[in-house]
Parts: sequence; C-alpha cells; structure tokens
Amino acid sequence: MRDREENKMIHRLKNKILGIFIKTAKKIPAVKNKMNQEYAGIMADMEKSLKPYRGKVETFSSLPTKGLSEELILSLIEGMNKNEEKNWKNGKISGAVYHGDKKHIDFLNNVYSIVSQVNPLHADIWPSASKYEAEIIAMTGNMMHSAEAEKTGDLVCGSVTSGGTESILLAMKTYRDMAREKRGIHKPEIIAPVTAHAAFDKASQYFNIRLRKARVDGYFRVDLSHVKSLINKNTIALVGSAPSFPHGMVDDIPALSDLAYLHGIPFHTDACLGGFLLPWVEKLGVAEYNNRIPVFDFRLRGVTSLSVDTHKYGFAAKGTSVVLYRNPQIRRYQFFKVTDWPGGLYYSPTFAGSRPGALLATAWASLIKTGASGYMDSARKIMKAADIIREGIRNIPGLEIMGDPLWNIAFTTGDHTVYRIMEAMNQKGWSLNGLHQPPGVHICATLVHTRKNLAVQFVEDLKEAATYVREHPEDKGHSAPVYGMAASFPDRETVGDLLDVYMDTLYKL
Ligand SMILES: Cc1ncc(COP(=O)(O)O)c(C=O)c1O
Repeated sequence: MRDREENKMIHRLKNKILGIFIKTAKKIPAVKNKMNQEYAGIMADMEKSLKPYRGKVETFSSLPTKGLSEELILSLIEGMNKNEEKNWKNGKISGAVYHGDKKHIDFLNNVYSIVSQVNPLHADIWPSASKYEAEIIAMTGNMMHSAEAEKTGDLVCGSVTSGGTESILLAMKTYRDMAREKRGIHKPEIIAPVTAHAAFDKASQYFNIRLRKARVDGYFRVDLSHVKSLINKNTIALVGSAPSFPHGMVDDIPALSDLAYLHGIPFHTDACLGGFLLPWVEKLGVAEYNNRIPVFDFRLRGVTSLSVDTHKYGFAAKGTSVVLYRNPQIRRYQFFKVTDWPGGLYYSPTFAGSRPGALLATAWASLIKTGASGYMDSARKIMKAADIIREGIRNIPGLEIMGDPLWNIAFTTGDHTVYRIMEAMNQKGWSLNGLHQPPGVHICATLVHTRKNLAVQFVEDLKEAATYVREHPEDKGHSAPVYGMAASFPDRETVGDLLDVYMDTLYKL
C-alpha cells in the first residue's frame, strides 16, 4: 500500500517537472516543430476515422447546380445511417441510446414528421406547442414531487430546453442575474463537485461565473466540509449530481440542500441522467437500491431547481430536456425580452429563438406513451442488467468498482492499464467511456443492455479483456497510450490545443 502511495507521489512529481519542462521547451521553435509533427501523426489517424465517407459518398462543397432527386438523397442518407447502425444496434455501447427499439423510434419519427414545421416562437400559429411544453414540464415536475413544493407556498415551473447542457446553462444564468439584482453580487461564484458535468464549466466560461470545484470523498460523492469551506458572500448557487456522469454516484443532496437553505443560497440538482430513472427505481422499493438514493428533488426545502433530461431515460428523440424551478419568481430571471426592437415586442424563454416544436411533440408523445408503468418497468429491467454488470465486474481480478453506483458503473485498475482494457473491449465491439483524474472506464446501462443476455456478454468480454491485458504487459495497445497521455499530460494547455484541432477536424469536408 505504502509503495503504491510513494509511486503515486513520484509519478505526480515527475509530471510536474515534465510540465515545467514542456512549458519552457515549447517556446523553443525546434521543440515546437517536433511536437507539432507528433500531433500531426495522431491527428491524421483521428481524421481518417472521423471522415469515413470521404471518397465514398459525394461531397458537396457548393450547392449542386441542379437539385438532386429525393430518391437519390434518401438513398445517400439511408446508406450512411445503415452503416452507422452497426455502431450501436448490437447494444455494445455506454449510454448514448437509451431506448433503441425500432417500434419506439418509428413512433417518434412518425410524430416528428406530422409536426416538423411547428415553432413555439409563434404561439399564435401553433398553440399546440405551448400545450406540449407546459404538460412536459408539469409531468416532469410531478415526478420531482412538485406537490411538496406547493406545501411551502411555491409553484414548480420550468422550460423545455435543447438538452441537459442548456438546462444547466439556463439555471446558472438565472442564478447569476438573480444574485446581481437581489444581492448586488458582481463577482458570482458557484460551488459544484469536481465530478459535476462539464456543462457547469461551460456556464462558468460563458457567463463569467467563477466555478469553485469541491473535492469528492472515497465514494466519489462531494465532500461536504469542502463545500462548506468554499461558501462566501459571492456564492450564487450550490450544485449536486443525481447521479454524476463519471461515476454514477448521487451526492448527499439532502445535506447540500440544507446547507444552501441555511445560507440563503439557491441549490441546483443535476438530475439530467437520473431524473427519469431514480424516481422509478425508488418506487421499486428494493432496499439495496434505496440505500443509495437520497432524496434529491422538491421534497427538500433547499432545492430551487433541477435539470431532468427527457432525451435520456425519458426515451424522447434527441434534443430535449427540462429545467425546473421551485417558483416562477426564480424563472423570471431566465426569460429574455426586448421591448424597443424595430422588429416588434420580442420575448424568448430559453437560449434559442425559433425552436423545434416537433421535438416538444415527440417528448410529449414519449412521456404519455411510456406512462408511469412503462418507466417503472424499464427501471426494473435496467437495474437487473446493471446488477449483473456490477457484480460481474466485482468478480474480475484486478478491477475495482469506483464508488458504489447503481446503473452508471465505473471501474478502474488503479492505473492507466484500464485504458488498455477499454481498447481490448473496443476490439470486441464495445464502445465505452474513458474517464480520467483518476483513470477509469464506465458503462452506463440503458434499455439496450436489457436485451438478449447482453449484460452477461459484457461481463464475459470484460473478463477476457482484463485477462489479456494482465497476461500481455508487452502489448501497449494503439489508442490506450494516446488516451493515457491525454489524461495525465501535465500541460493541459497542450491537451486543450489538441481538442481545438479535433473540433476543427469535425468541420472539415
Ligand atoms: C449528469 C449529467 N449532466 C448533464 C449532462 C449533459 O447533457 P447533454 O449532453 O444532454 O447536454 C449529462 C450528459 O450525459 C449528464 O450525464
């Protein structure tokens, strides 16, 4: 044990020295050139895999002189779609596809095609859009126990957004503006666990809010004493995850909510991932599950907002989430309006102007099609698959589960070899999520993993992958070293530069 700690310290020290060296060396042109050449190699490989249709499907860099036939266009799109179905249809994925049954997808597509022109910005033309939206918010709020908030004189309300990130961005902007007006705060700070979703970093960068990151404990739940120590007169909101993206752990939301309430600070529960699953898992009444699910919604007096994604376990089409507020007085700070624009009186509740009403309709349709019994049934099935996966991982020598998760299950080897296991799994067709700081890999179970013994197959494949990696230390893998380097490279600016290049690549023809 002591050896491992010492090794870790030496590793950290080496990284630090390497970081200082790289920062200095990067200023020397020859070194810079050499590094650029190395990136170029990595990026060339990456570009190849990101652009598989080059030379295979016609590239349009300008409008075709004469429009193509509908048949030809449909055949191009169907061809690419068919090719990509092999990436997820077998279910060897983590998260990403939450339902996946053809019949359900066809139903959503059918709904979309009926109302593809609807725009809620024109409520006079399409009043149905505001019906869909209000009812999605009410149904989601009800799931989050809005009735409990009414007991304290509140009235839960919200907006449908384009996804979890927008829900989080809106809540953070709302709290920034509210704190400025009500408390005169001009240097706003939010406190979130280090494991909270990157959307909080995005909010911090977009809205000039300082993000104070709180440590997590050995179970990857936020360290309350660290949160407490970070609260100051500029704190505009506290945040907790139910559960977190990396390790699937639910923070101690009741304690965080009390802390926020006692300090008179708003509190946001990020239930993007768990909002449509946790309430139903809770209702299953299995003690083993319930012990890991603290109350996280409007039953708590301190919870002033939640983000809940319809496009994850709500089984809606991609592109919707719900941000909920405890009362309309808070939501008022989210709204945008301009009263002296030559284009007329203008208002917009969320970030977008025009919005896809068809996505509201598909989310509404998914909710009322699935119903309480459907979500409960899905929760039961997903938990069953997750139990097989979790217990299976627990029994694989050399692997350790990170924390004590329910269905979003992270594991580690304690070092970078876990990325080699991820790569070996990739060769078996599995696309899993790599985590870092500390190194780990997770699989987020969805309805797709409840099919055809897939959970059992995952465990068998993982056992083989772990055995292979253990028995072949000489095989360093192809992508694992790159992943390991990106995860632990001391110069984060350089890693950030790589991500810029990656994004540029996505926009290439
Ligand atoms: C906990 C959590 N919060 C927020 C998000 C962001 O959601 P989206 O990708 O829909 O913007 C995710 C996505 O996985 C998540 O897991």
